[in-house]
Amino acid sequence: MLLTEIDHVAIAVHDLEAAIAYYQEAFGAEVAHREVVESDGVDEALIKVADSYIQLTAATRPDSPIAKFLEKRGEGLHHVGYRVDDCAAALASLVEAGGRAIDEAPRPGSRGTTVAFVHPKGSFGTLIELVQE
Ligand code: CO
Repeated sequence: MLLTEIDHVAIAVHDLEAAIAYYQEAFGAEVAHREVVESDGVDEALIKVADSYIQLTAATRPDSPIAKFLEKRGEGLHHVGYRVDDCAAALASLVEAGGRAIDEAPRPGSRGTTVAFVHPKGSFGTLIELVQE
């Protein structure tokens, strides 16, 4: 089994501060990490849940993939990040099995991780992110 843990569940939101405040007030959550990933057009906040994270994700610009997702689908579940020991190996296994990669090769993600995205078409409607710490 190449997937070792749920790394994060990403939720697309319009207002990041409001979403953070909700998790703080409703569940006493604390933000473990904040980061703007300008190359992806995302502003994200990570809330730790055991060894995994909830990743609240907002758009930094109107042409970012998150902005387009919000426009088309509204707020909600955006992708599931699975932790892997070796992102390149997991991606190769996926492609060999007929899966559809978005990233042809692993690339830098947030918090210094190495990531690759897998297209929801071919993954039963769920955008998958492979995350190597
Ligand atoms: Co992610």
